[in-house]
Amino acid sequence: MANEISSNFETVPSRGQWASHLGFILAAAGSAIGLGNIWKFPYITGEYGGGAFVLVYLICVVIVGLPLMIAEIMIGRRAQKNPVGAFQELHHKSSPWQLTGWLGVASGFLILSFYSVVAGWAIAYIFKSIVGFTGSPEQIQNQFVELVVSPYDSILWHSIFMFLCIAIVIGGVQRGIERWSKILMPALFVILVGLMFYGLFFTHGGMQALEFLFKPDFSKLSAEAALSALGHAFFTLSLGMGAMITYGSYMKKSDNILKNAVIVSFLDTIIALMAGTAIFSLVFHYGMEPGQSVGLIFKTLPVLFKETGPGISVPFFILLSFAALTSGISLLEVVVSYFIDIRGWSRTKATILLGSAIYLFGLLSAISSITLPFRGKDQGIFDILDFVTTNYMLPVGGLLTCLFTAWVFKRKAKIDEFGSEGFLYRVFDIIIKVVTPIAVIMILLHGLELLPFMDYGK
Ligand code: PHE
Repeated sequence: MANEISSNFETVPSRGQWASHLGFILAAAGSAIGLGNIWKFPYITGEYGGGAFVLVYLICVVIVGLPLMIAEIMIGRRAQKNPVGAFQELHHKSSPWQLTGWLGVASGFLILSFYSVVAGWAIAYIFKSIVGFTGSPEQIQNQFVELVVSPYDSILWHSIFMFLCIAIVIGGVQRGIERWSKILMPALFVILVGLMFYGLFFTHGGMQALEFLFKPDFSKLSAEAALSALGHAFFTLSLGMGAMITYGSYMKKSDNILKNAVIVSFLDTIIALMAGTAIFSLVFHYGMEPGQSVGLIFKTLPVLFKETGPGISVPFFILLSFAALTSGISLLEVVVSYFIDIRGWSRTKATILLGSAIYLFGLLSAISSITLPFRGKDQGIFDILDFVTTNYMLPVGGLLTCLFTAWVFKRKAKIDEFGSEGFLYRVFDIIIKVVTPIAVIMILLHGLELLPFMDYGK
């Protein structure tokens, strides 16, 4: 059957398709919506000072993220290959563009290694919620610190998450994930709407939260903040590493790429903004600090959950873990599909070997006490990996994909995939040739403090 790619994917991948029109949207939204939206977006927004960061991020979603999502899906559906094979297929076997695919495979490997640690915390919090949160706000917040500094706990939960990813990717993505996404993603949405309304109307922090998120103060926008806003647009939309190339390769020819990309980007953005509103309402209500780094949601939400009881907190952390899982498997799928397609490994072998390698590498992030000097201070492996992959590897991968689409991908094939040659195609063509690459290059240079016309105070 066409939609059961997993079962006959063993050696020669016969490419399947998503079961329904909704299939791509669900899987791609499943990949995009994850810890990036609910954990990372609020905490980096808190760290980089709010509104101005959010504005740059939103601009990046529109002028960089959306066009690149369209481009990646077009490449995948045209080539019907994994990210490395796709560039070979659309150019030639020894094409240097395949480096873009390799960079993507490497990014997937590194991102999943630390992503799994955070996803593990989310699973741990399901159990903490069942037991219930008690004590003063400080005591509740300290639970997170204890979890992170205990290497055994972090490793245990990291192991469980990686095990789940491996089990699902071996079994095949469509039947499990496509089916569960249909129930769980809408449930996550409903809970988030509830939390957002609670924050806005039942706490004293609602207005302050909206101001913090949407009133830009450009004096707070450092070069690093702008670079992180760009990186986050890539991270949250799962771009720059071939996840959308892989998922696009399973998309039906009759599906409209532009429409699907708009829906996925919109859902992803709205969920991040809702999570941000809910969390900052609480932060301001309790007079906490917005810049609490990686612990933000694990420290603030439980203070509220003490009031609401496990009826809300247990579903919330289950759904958060699920959102992380649908993203985690897409990261693993990119790495695995390369070894299946190009190296001819069986799906089972590729998934177990690579999943284990990622797991072992992830131990370095799980043990937060290992630090290295980086950008002028001692930082944990976790933070270094997050910074380098998100802010450099994904944008560079995205830039290469953009240049490929603009100048190498054949025009006729592009028009065929886009579905028309009309006004919208011409707009897309100009954006992908001019606007997106210039924006990415400028922000990358700015992040390195290399833009000639800026004053970096040196
Ligand atoms: N987009 C996912 C999130 O926001 C993370 C991810 C990045 C998934 C890159 C796949 C590829 O959580």
